[in-house]
Amino acid sequence: MAVALDDAIDLSLMEGILTEHQGQPRALIPVLQKTQEIYGWLPPQALTQIARALGLSTSKVYGVATFYAQFYLKKRGRHVLKLCDGTACHVKGAPILATAVAEEYHIHVGETTEDGELTVELVYCIGSCALAPVAILDDEVMGRVKQDKLLRTLKRKAPPAAKQESGS
Ligand code: FES
Repeated sequence: MAVALDDAIDLSLMEGILTEHQGQPRALIPVLQKTQEIYGWLPPQALTQIARALGLSTSKVYGVATFYAQFYLKKRGRHVLKLCDGTACHVKGAPILATAVAEEYHIHVGETTEDGELTVELVYCIGSCALAPVAILDDEVMGRVKQDKLLRTLKRKAPPAAKQESGS
């Protein structure tokens, strides 16, 4: 569940977790995981609150959060597209899919659209090479993905923001 996509982070949403683990530095990883479930990422304000509640330094909390790939320190979109770029998917056209998405949404891999609707990430082999190229949109796994179908599916969930008219 991802909420709070704007800059205002409702820290009250994590009160229960912090109360439960108050003064328990060893609970850092589960607390980070639960916090990320709430916000969809780890906002800096939340990391500061976690450090205070668990009795850790902020640098320790950041150190752990940046060490593990499962944690996101940058805001992610309401929808997340993961393109597999393992060997089989790469050979079967993953770079073409990434280019198509970049052209349609004006974002590159690792970025989020300005309207906060879509984040594109790369993953490396999810063990479904027979279905290459593979893409995962939120929790939906798509195999033997063609560019047209991928863009159609994406547009249904996260329509590209209307282009700004340039004034003359
Ligand atoms: S390389 Fe993409 S699923 Fe294995």
